[in-house]
Amino acid sequence: MGKIFAIMSGKGGVGKSTIAAALAEYYARQGKSTVLVDGDTGLRCADLMLNAQNQVLYDLGDVIEKSCGMDQALVLVPDISNLCLLAAPQLMKPSDLKAKDVGRVVTRLAEEKDIVILDAPAGIGRGLKNLLGAAAEPVIVATPDDVSVRDAEKLGALLNERDEPHPGIVFNRADKALVRRGEMAPPRLLAQALDMPLLGIVPDSRSVYRALLRHQTVLSCGDEQVVHAVAILAKRLMGQEAELPVYASSPILRFFHRRGEEA
Ligand SMILES: Nc1ncnc2c1ncn2[C@@H]1O[C@H](COP(=O)(O)OP(=O)(O)OP(=O)(O)O)[C@@H](O)[C@H]1O
Ligand SMILES: [Mg+2]
Repeated sequence: MGKIFAIMSGKGGVGKSTIAAALAEYYARQGKSTVLVDGDTGLRCADLMLNAQNQVLYDLGDVIEKSCGMDQALVLVPDISNLCLLAAPQLMKPSDLKAKDVGRVVTRLAEEKDIVILDAPAGIGRGLKNLLGAAAEPVIVATPDDVSVRDAEKLGALLNERDEPHPGIVFNRADKALVRRGEMAPPRLLAQALDMPLLGIVPDSRSVYRALLRHQTVLSCGDEQVVHAVAILAKRLMGQEAELPVYASSPILRFFHRRGEEA
């Protein structure tokens, strides 16, 4: 049975799909048979992120409704061997799906593949609940700001009510210079405050958005720090040792930043 990771968040737009696609690509390039399941019913995006939009004929909804077989719905991602995509239904609403049906499809995939990555929709609504039927390890993505952290806390509380693995957290769009100056809280402290294991820290980088504009994947975005951060996250998710980068504030810079604010 393969590993199943569900990449979720409270707040939208924090980088779930970016990180889900990057992890899927990483594992596939390591030789693991991997499938990325786009769970954002009605708002599919993983096909574009992996430049596989022209290959998509069927989707998760079609598999559940048995309009096609699993093999017909799994898209081979161009230029990345070992990686398949199961697209999200674009013409359905989350309420058109049932959690137990989604769970059944995901379990079947995990029986065939080494790694299944679920890209969840934002929030704690029906779309997310559809994915909670799958026995996935929950990974919460947040950005290091109060709004996103508050929403991550809410989602964490919801997930902790279940008799399932507790979530870990990934901070995306972290900025070492802002942390050093005391403008951004260090991800390590935020994870401690949320009482969640810190799984990864992905830096903010214009290269990530530029990769999206060019239909390139995150691992080919050209920013070595981002690629390294994805590798660290992927290893830690598999229980391997990989040191997180240091994001620490500098007392001197913090002092001058405060003086500047007071002036
Ligand atoms: N580390 C990063 N540095 C810079 N930009 C990033 C980073 N991660 C994601 N982005 C950009 O942020 C935007 C939102 O990313 P993404 O679509 O992955 O978020 P999401 O959480 O999946 O959103 P939604 O809640 O709508 O599903 C995209 O334009 C993406 O390129
Ligand atoms: Mg998304």
